[in-house]
Amino acid sequence: MSRKILVTSALPYANGSIHLGHLVEYIQTDIWVRYHKMQGHTCHYVCADDTHGTPIMLKAEKDGITPEQLIARVHKEHTDDFREFLVEFDNYYSTNSEENRELSSKIYKALKADGKIAVRTIEQYYDPVKNMFLPDRFIKGECPKCHAKDQYGDSCEVCGSTYSPTELINPYSAVSGATPVRKETEHYFFKLSECADFLKQWTRSGSLQTEAANKMNEWLGEASDNKLSDWDISRDAPYFGFEIPDAPGKYFYVWLDAPIGYMASFKNLCARTGLDFDEYWNKGSKTELYHFIGKDILYFHALFWPATLEYSGYRTPTQVFAHGFLTVNGEKMSKSRGTFITARSYLEHVKNPEYLRYYYAAKLNGTMEDIDLNLEDFVARVNSDLVGKYINIASRTAGFITKLFDGKVRAAGSNSVIDAMRNGAKVVADAYENRDFGRALREIMSLADQANGFVASAAPWEMAKDPTKSDHLYIVCSEALEMFRLLTLYLKPVLPKLADSIERFLNIAPLKWADVGQGLANDHTILTYQHLITRIDLKQIEAMTEANKETMQATVPTAAAPVAAAQTNYIGIEDFAKVDLRIARIVDAAHVEGAEKLLQLTLDIGEEKPRNVFAGIKSAYDPASLKGRLTVMVANLAPRKMKFGLSEGMVLAASDERGGPFILSPDSGAEPGMKVK
Ligand code: 2FM
Ligand code: ZN
Repeated sequence: MSRKILVTSALPYANGSIHLGHLVEYIQTDIWVRYHKMQGHTCHYVCADDTHGTPIMLKAEKDGITPEQLIARVHKEHTDDFREFLVEFDNYYSTNSEENRELSSKIYKALKADGKIAVRTIEQYYDPVKNMFLPDRFIKGECPKCHAKDQYGDSCEVCGSTYSPTELINPYSAVSGATPVRKETEHYFFKLSECADFLKQWTRSGSLQTEAANKMNEWLGEASDNKLSDWDISRDAPYFGFEIPDAPGKYFYVWLDAPIGYMASFKNLCARTGLDFDEYWNKGSKTELYHFIGKDILYFHALFWPATLEYSGYRTPTQVFAHGFLTVNGEKMSKSRGTFITARSYLEHVKNPEYLRYYYAAKLNGTMEDIDLNLEDFVARVNSDLVGKYINIASRTAGFITKLFDGKVRAAGSNSVIDAMRNGAKVVADAYENRDFGRALREIMSLADQANGFVASAAPWEMAKDPTKSDHLYIVCSEALEMFRLLTLYLKPVLPKLADSIERFLNIAPLKWADVGQGLANDHTILTYQHLITRIDLKQIEAMTEANKETMQATVPTAAAPVAAAQTNYIGIEDFAKVDLRIARIVDAAHVEGAEKLLQLTLDIGEEKPRNVFAGIKSAYDPASLKGRLTVMVANLAPRKMKFGLSEGMVLAASDERGGPFILSPDSGAEPGMKVK
């Protein structure tokens, strides 16, 4: 039976680049959607940029542009990244759209009419210099627990504790540096506390994965108690967002209009294609609605969002699919290790997006577990599965069809491998449906192993030497290509571009699931086999992580051995003399856009042109305080291409667990360019 399905992925914020962590979600959603489309279902995949809120407003201000200009720029970048990763949305829109303004306002009015909106006066931190209320993330200060400096208003990155901004010691505004003051303001609340019964029923109705439903039970409490607080849905001007209809100067909090952005994007698609919006969104809709999200935003999608829909008269989601986070080489993505990799950087270095699609698919199993991108395993797996097992089947057989049989195949009959392949369709389909892509690929690769075994034992390259074996050769190669066709069909949701070039090579129409039993016909002509895929080289991966590394050696602790420890790894004076140390004047120092730890230094060492050096000293120095200072640099360090530009040396700095980095200063009298020895 053909189904009508609407699918979404979480809307990425419009102030940052898409990175490999984001792609875990978009790739898995895209695979699921492609699978359903291949099954012949009506399936729409919509998404949008999440454009509102304080961080976007401030980022635009910092870049000297309007928020509209910022979100337009990012929209283009995001669209390009998704297209190149073959994430095929039916609509990729923006939350800053008329459709979204209208829907947000309509939903708010409906909630209000239902008595679900309350207005209350609250007290919040206010920046008296910037004249704005500060979100928690924009208040910094000393951690009340471990006393680490410069921690955010909601949690400490050093000891991991969470607290409220009022608990911070010596708070300051991250926007202006001013000391924030407490100020009263009226806020609008969605009375979530009145939605507990509905939410208990909804979260237990099978719309969530078991682990997610358990988490919700914790949040919702037992039947008798009510742990839900009302949800603050307003923010004060200045704010980039939608003004609340009957409340001048008050704006919808970004998280109110973001999920409504799913509806708005679909509405925009309906206007372009004639689809019926109401059929998908009205209460009682017979269509299916699925949201793919990261586990960090479960609260919004499993509580706020269904309640918002329920009490404003719309249908609720059929299911919310939450996934885990991405780790790289077993650890959190890290700028200093070079594993915080943007989609763009991957494309520049590895080039083929389908390798990543394949690897992610192999790791995904439909649960909320984190998935690990182990870079060495990535290379080994792609090379062995895709090149060694899958493509190999065609590359070892197609040439004979072209050379010896006029490019025409013979219809494949039944043999044990082909039968296993056709019978595998059900298992593979089932795994795709349940988002257990790992299981789907294990099944497909085991079929590929059988196909390779079939080719290897028939050894067509041997038969080709003996004209009396021509008939058998013809059968073997034709059957191998039929196996290859079936594997291509099964892999198509994951590898759509490769499937497309194989469909062209096999000279067949785009494969659909129903084509499992439609083997290549007698005398069907294929095209000449051409190289379809190349191996990845570990060097490409190393170049990628190298290019994404942010810190300079200057901040890497230099195995600071305690003074008393026996020093055995001596170097000779000739080794030391290899290092060209020079006095440098810092003629300029500046922040680097997007870099957490680096400052960009312009260093005069008496050469014609000053040197450009990125130094990992941002945590300890204000750029203005460095200008004019003398320090010491390594002048003959090989220039290093970094994400932000070329670094032509290194400044020396001391550090260990007691503090730092502290850059060095010469005694007075030293001049730029003097050799240090
Ligand atoms: O967490 C995020 O990145 C949000 N921008 C996701 C929004 S999803 C939806 F609700 F809009
Ligand atoms: Zn702390």
